[in-house]
Amino acid sequence: LSTTEVDLSKIEAGQGIVTSFRKQPLFVRHLTPKEITEADAVPLGELRDPQTLAQRTKPGKENWLITLGVCTHLGCIPLGIHEGENRGQFGGYFCPCHGSQYDTAARIRKGPAPKNLAVPPYTFSSDTTVTVG
Ligand code: FES
Repeated sequence: LSTTEVDLSKIEAGQGIVTSFRKQPLFVRHLTPKEITEADAVPLGELRDPQTLAQRTKPGKENWLITLGVCTHLGCIPLGIHEGENRGQFGGYFCPCHGSQYDTAARIRKGPAPKNLAVPPYTFSSDTTVTVG
């Protein structure tokens, strides 16, 4: 199976890029300290699909949120990876198809989607390079 290399060096905090992984959109987002604080402040009991930000990122790299850009409801591409797009009321992603809202850890918070945006397997091959797959 193929892997995808992602260069993180040009992605500033608050920004993100869309690339692709095995023919699916892949969101690579550089979280701001505020977005990390917001994600960490949510009690797990409030989550439909309970996971901490730490469980969805790599140790020491909690500012890099790497997920599929595929809504877990019916597979639309959510908005919000680019600065200035509608990120919904939880500051992460907003799916325009049926209104699912994801938080800054890409966890489902409201709307019909059952699961958080999926985190693919990946490793940091250097400080600024990630190999997905
Ligand atoms: Fe995203 Fe339905 S496909 S809310």
